[in-house]
Amino acid sequence: MLDIQSTAAAAPQVIRRDAYREPDWLVPETALDFRLDSLQTRVKARLTVVRHGDHDRPLRLDGDSLTPVAVSVDGRAVTDWTMEDGQLVIALSGVDHVIETEVEIAPELNTQLMGLYASGGLLCTQCEAEGFRRITFFPDRPDVLSRYTVRMDADKARYPVLLANGDPIASGDLPDGRHWAEWHDPFPKPCYLFALVAGDLEANRDSFVTMTGRKVDLGIWVRAADLPKTDHAMAALKLSMAWDEAMYGREYDLDVFNIVAVADFNFGAMENKGLNVFNSRYILADPDTATDMDYDAIAGVVAHEYFHNWSGNRVTCRDWFQLSLKEGFTVFRDQQFSGDQGSKAVKRIEDVRTLRASQFPEDSGPLAHPIRPESYMEISNFYTATIYNKGAEIVRMIHTILGPEKFRAATDLYFARHDGEAATCEDFVKAMEDGGGVDLSQFRLWYSQAGTPRVKAALSHDGATARLKLEQTVPATPGQPEKQPMLLPLKVRLFGAQSEAPLCDERIVMLSAANDEIVIEGIEERPILSINRGFSAPVVLESDRGAADLAFLSAHDDDPFARYEAMQQLMVDTLVRAVAEGMADHGPVIEAVRGTLTDKALDASFIAEAVLLPSEAFIGDQMLVVDPDAINRARDSLRAELGVKLESAWRGAYDSAQANRFEYSPAAKGARRLKSVALGYLAASGAKDAADLAYAQFAGADNMTDRQGALGVLVNGTSGNRAKAIEAFYDRYQDNALVLDKWFTSQALSTRADVMDEVLALSSHPDFTLANPNRVRALAGAFSVNQRGFHGADGRGYAFLADIIIALDKLNPQTAAKLVPPLGRWRRFDERRAEKMRAALQRIVDAPGLSKDVFEQASKSLG
Ligand code: ARG
Ligand code: ZN
Repeated sequence: MLDIQSTAAAAPQVIRRDAYREPDWLVPETALDFRLDSLQTRVKARLTVVRHGDHDRPLRLDGDSLTPVAVSVDGRAVTDWTMEDGQLVIALSGVDHVIETEVEIAPELNTQLMGLYASGGLLCTQCEAEGFRRITFFPDRPDVLSRYTVRMDADKARYPVLLANGDPIASGDLPDGRHWAEWHDPFPKPCYLFALVAGDLEANRDSFVTMTGRKVDLGIWVRAADLPKTDHAMAALKLSMAWDEAMYGREYDLDVFNIVAVADFNFGAMENKGLNVFNSRYILADPDTATDMDYDAIAGVVAHEYFHNWSGNRVTCRDWFQLSLKEGFTVFRDQQFSGDQGSKAVKRIEDVRTLRASQFPEDSGPLAHPIRPESYMEISNFYTATIYNKGAEIVRMIHTILGPEKFRAATDLYFARHDGEAATCEDFVKAMEDGGGVDLSQFRLWYSQAGTPRVKAALSHDGATARLKLEQTVPATPGQPEKQPMLLPLKVRLFGAQSEAPLCDERIVMLSAANDEIVIEGIEERPILSINRGFSAPVVLESDRGAADLAFLSAHDDDPFARYEAMQQLMVDTLVRAVAEGMADHGPVIEAVRGTLTDKALDASFIAEAVLLPSEAFIGDQMLVVDPDAINRARDSLRAELGVKLESAWRGAYDSAQANRFEYSPAAKGARRLKSVALGYLAASGAKDAADLAYAQFAGADNMTDRQGALGVLVNGTSGNRAKAIEAFYDRYQDNALVLDKWFTSQALSTRADVMDEVLALSSHPDFTLANPNRVRALAGAFSVNQRGFHGADGRGYAFLADIIIALDKLNPQTAAKLVPPLGRWRRFDERRAEKMRAALQRIVDAPGLSKDVFEQASKSLG
């Protein structure tokens, strides 16, 4: 039973998109003065405020945990202000005024890591979305743009480097061992893009000459010992700057661009104007400590934050409901960039895998929301795979519909039209329509309807005519019981079963109705359907293609993504049947994998992706009621048979990559990837020497990809090598926090039956701490997606996660709330598990003093 009274009292206010109102007051100029100290920082703010519109409402400045020490209006101290819900409210009579406030804050005690906080001896800020109100009183909303001047002073020995947004103006020494610096940012910006960093840092310095010949000084700031690990990030930054000029005509606009790496950070990175702040895991890399995946992620995140300078900063968001305006577009841009650096096909496969692993479950669960949500309690909870990754898919569909040239014309129009403004998703779509010369009326449903559309495709053939019957449905989601059909661009091509050749050109079918039939003439032989090529629409596709046709496509389709997809579908069909019926014919999968593995025309990185079985979670997503035990059995058995039947091919793939010395190139990366996949299959086959092979790889590796790959295999096993490897890895890397995170993660992902005990033991390891978000994610976050361990029938996994969430909420609500969603999947599990998951959620909701972050996620998850 729901206790109406206590829930109502605890329930935070709901913010609605349709309640948007323009700001009452604008702030064209802001001058900040920080006297920095880890325990007692004094912040003086001087705001020029201008009444906006004809009204007599007071000035309301947002504040969170702030108490005014002094307030003045037009140079005179005033006392007739009030505090309402953290806001400082000042009645003003004129059209413009100068408001000065003074507050004190304690960065060292800021465990939320929002606002000004301390990390490893340095002071840094995180303001998006609503952290600036923890620093000073201000209209903390993205449609109030201001020009900032920032002065700070600090102890020179502890904080020799003082950075802020924009360009450095002046600096100097002060008595008592202190010094000061002043920065000015000429571009008006919302306060969520404010940043400041003070610390003992060294820079990797470089420069970039822009398309109009301006020289930009680049700096990547880290602790001195980490300097050798910044070259990859710097190379990625320069590539990103050149790419954005070539692909989107976007030039950088300040004389300096700085990046700072910090160890304690709630998410990946932040695009503050001219001063990006990064989670150090997305900056630091060398072959001994970073995997190929880390290298790729670093390049992708560096690009992402850099691209925000236009898609986010020059054109920002009117309100937080428009978040996907900058995030979806910027993810699309970073995906394009990464695709251009290596294999486009493999990048697309990775991005679709991510979408299916993180966004599809969100879209089919209690937290489903459109990419432009209608309401929220806590905006931090909406930095989701839906806003980011589905948002990117929606921009990608526009790109597909317009084609590259018109898309470029449309983005040019968008940037020109809205430069310096706080825009909406509607502004973006309008620019795409006007610049591309298309009508996107129906397409707009992608912004308002949640849920992953399902498309049924059936192909028939008669004489020389092929008929493709298409049917779409959009499932109900919370608050949206009825849906309208969406506009889906589906790339389609037909192949001849006999000729093994394409029977028509690729065409884009625009499915706009619930039902449609496409007729293709001149098809003389039995056609095989290749559809949603390149994953042109983010939908779940059901077709009546059997194992033989899927195997055919996996070998003959000319679209590499479609080849991958056909193989995945074949594997999924086989595994779902095995789960339902206790067994299935593995033959077609084995032969298709053999074909791909031995196809000399394919590159190793593609092969490695294509021969991987779908994850246990993805198989579960295909089932009405997830049965983790049956899925594990079915998947293990197929994996083992693939290992045994193709043993010599796996050994061949393994041996041919064995001799390579480390090199960071697409070819070398592909070889390492295939090698680790092959090792996994050899271990699954039960080959006697697999553990020794893995240990030899572990001990002899000249790079982290091979070392962690081997560790990942060893942790699943029972050989004596297992404990030896875990210990050796710890001894070697115990002083490197980022690598120690991998040590925690590898063990949390183990497939062994005792993984829960191990995870519990690790949670009281001296190196485990709730104070560092990376460490929490490395253990608890990783474990919560380990389908075997987390969904153990005794429910201990759920209780463990709830304990972590409740404890972490006291320190860091944002990071705690991110851990909730796996528990919200309860509807998909058998009643015994569901009951235990609900109990864990209920215990969270009932925890005294719960944050609104966690309350929103847990209460909606109980739904
Ligand atoms: N804008 C940042 C990015 O580049 C992320 C900010 C995340 N903020 C948050 N409250 N979760 O994606
Ligand atoms: Zn972003």
